[in-house]
Amino acid sequence: MSGHAAPVPMISTAQGPLTGLAHVPGDKSISHRALILGALSVGETRITGLLEGEDVLDTGRAMRAFGAEVARDEDGTWHVHGVGVGGFAEPGGVIDCGNSGTGVRLIMGAMATSPITATFTGDASLNARPMARVTDPLAQFGACTYGRAGGRLPMTVVGAADPVPVRYTVPVPSAQVKSAVLLAGLNAPGETVVIEAAATRDHTERMLAGFGAEIAVRDVAEGREITLTGRPELRPQDIVVPRDPSSAAFPVCAALIVPGSDVLVPNIGLNPTRAGLFYTLQDMGADLTFENMREEGGEPVADLRAKYSPDMHGIEVPPERAASMIDEYPVLSVVAANATGATVMRGVAELRVKESDRIAAMATGLRAAGVEVEDGPDWWIVHGCGAGNVPGGAQAASHLDHRIAMSFLVMGLASERPMRVDDGAPIATSFPVFEPLMTGLGADIRRSGA
Ligand code: S3P
Repeated sequence: MSGHAAPVPMISTAQGPLTGLAHVPGDKSISHRALILGALSVGETRITGLLEGEDVLDTGRAMRAFGAEVARDEDGTWHVHGVGVGGFAEPGGVIDCGNSGTGVRLIMGAMATSPITATFTGDASLNARPMARVTDPLAQFGACTYGRAGGRLPMTVVGAADPVPVRYTVPVPSAQVKSAVLLAGLNAPGETVVIEAAATRDHTERMLAGFGAEIAVRDVAEGREITLTGRPELRPQDIVVPRDPSSAAFPVCAALIVPGSDVLVPNIGLNPTRAGLFYTLQDMGADLTFENMREEGGEPVADLRAKYSPDMHGIEVPPERAASMIDEYPVLSVVAANATGATVMRGVAELRVKESDRIAAMATGLRAAGVEVEDGPDWWIVHGCGAGNVPGGAQAASHLDHRIAMSFLVMGLASERPMRVDDGAPIATSFPVFEPLMTGLGADIRRSGA
């Protein structure tokens, strides 16, 4: 929620190796979608393994505000009694999506083709992020939106009473925009078509098919074309949320840079639209292996084993891989600082409009810690110091961004001097057990007081 408690300063310090098992929480992207699609189905969807981070809990509260019943058993199973496509009620209050771009953009899409009005807000980070990328296509369905200058939240969406289907080419690589259009298309008659130049995470497509929607994907000259037939009756599902590869990235990268480490991160989904970081790390010479490869729920899954890798070298990360690792560049830059040579990251303009400007936030903290970084509008280069040679000893600002906070805390585990982060509170949005999980592996990460 957007009311933030006091900042939580944190510090991380190098000590012994990281060893053992790291059971990371459920996938954030799939958790949001499970709640939203459950709310749009008729009947009861059961969800196990839901990420109980603030972002997802905000989406759960929002689904209640739109009329769904959302409840949690003591054993952690969630139950969503949906209202059906087109069945959303008008919320009685403002919808607060906290820190979550995924939450607000997907929910706006889901309500934009129903004859209801809703007002959305979030925290200072979310209220600074661009929403025109979503409101532009929603206007084509017939929805009206009234926000602050530059298309920022708080914003009121007046859903289309008589929606028309849309054919939309997504102008930026964004699964949130693609998903907002598909969710809006659910309550438009006829076929809604979305085209994306580069494949972004495809959970919405896969899950819509699982909930019984008619959805077809094909490769066309412009990229990937997704066709959804509107007004389906979505059937409730039993969903087992896989563990989040974006959260797995933190213990994996920490193990690669802390001497003597050997960490197993079980049950991580290796959906090709999400797994780019792991292949990049292997290209850099990381001792990272996929054990027990298998298929679960139609998706590749493996146990990741990461061992200390003192001989990693910088590479040019293939720009066409960017969408499949977009959330992982901050922690990749920490690994790059511990490698030799330059790690070049291009085609990543989207990093500038995440929970923070992630290139600026990481470059500032890395430079303060003695690492040379160059950056431009859609690229950055980290010049590695080599294993064990990162000076550290700086305070980094997290800018209300969980992944920035966690990246610098991972960095401190392998730096010559500790790293401080001004506010670790945002970590709770996606990885509420980060601190105990990492300390359980042997890391020295703690709250440092004022
Ligand atoms: C997400 C899409 C990505 C990603 C975010 C989750 C999603 O955002 O960064 O953490 O669940 O659809 P963009 O759509 O802005 O690329």
